[in-house]
This record gives sequence, C-alpha cells and structure tokens, in this order.
Amino acid sequence: MSTRDITVTVNGTAHRHAVEPRLLLSDFLRGMLGLTGTHVGCEHGVCGACTVLLDGDSMRACLMFAVQADGCRVETVESLGRIGQLNPLQQSFHEHHALQCGFCTPGMLMTATDLLKKYPLATDDEIREGLSGNLCRCTGYEHIVAAIRAVVKERT
Ligand code: FES
Ligand code: FES
Repeated sequence: MSTRDITVTVNGTAHRHAVEPRLLLSDFLRGMLGLTGTHVGCEHGVCGACTVLLDGDSMRACLMFAVQADGCRVETVESLGRIGQLNPLQQSFHEHHALQCGFCTPGMLMTATDLLKKYPLATDDEIREGLSGNLCRCTGYEHIVAAIRAVVKERT
C-alpha cells in the first residue's frame, strides 16, 4: 500500500507521519496520534461528533482525508483544557449540565468554540442555528444552549 508523508500541526505540535491516502483525518487523530477526544459517530458528516478546528474553522474530521490536512493546523477538544483546568466553555458545560452520555460533547465544544470566536450569538436562536450541525441524543439541547449563553454573557 502506498503512503504519503504528511505534517500536521495538532494542538500546537507538528506531527510527521506516513499515511495511506485513504486514511480519514478522524482516524489519523484517534488512531495514529491517540487523540480519542475526537469522537466518531456517523462517519458521513451528519452527527458532528468528529468536529475539530482546521486552520481555525470548524470541520468534520470524518469528511476529510488526513493527506488533505497536510501543512494545516488542527485543534481537537484536547486543546481546550484538562481535568482540573477546564476552559470557560467546558466549565460552563459542567455547571449547566450540558451533557449526559457525553458522546456529542467534543463536537459541541469545538463547534461552540468556533461560533464564540466568529459570531455575536445575541439570541438563543442564533446559538441553536450554529449548533444545528451537531446532533445530541440525550439532552434536548436546552442545557447546551444555556451553557453557551452563559459564556456569551460572561464576555460582554
Ligand atoms: S462522525 Fe463525522 S459527522 Fe458524524
Ligand atoms: S450528551 Fe449524549 S449525545 Fe449528547
């Protein structure tokens, strides 16, 4: 099987690997780099669980090949914070009970990170529209919206 050398900067560290051209970015992150915070649900771009930031924009890691990220900067949920050192968005999810099973949470956090950077999120409708590409089976979304709303309020 032929491989291609790629270099992807993930959470601030450059990773050089030989990969098969068919390897998905989500599998590269999880399988080769051990960054299993990026979840894989549908694997065809519907659920949003695999959302990461690619050069600053939210992106479905299951819809890209790793070779397409060659030379790019990727941020995964592991870049946000860690246990005992949650970032404000993670802390808000914690405080507002914005997760149950947690499967959707990494994608929700990465999408929300992107939304918070780019949009005023002045209304709950705007937050809901921004999250519309991320599916959650458990929460009914109310607490997720509340968590993001609290971060918006905090920054104004
Ligand atoms: S696993 Fe990528 S969108 Fe569902
Ligand atoms: S918390 Fe279970 S899928 Fe969202």
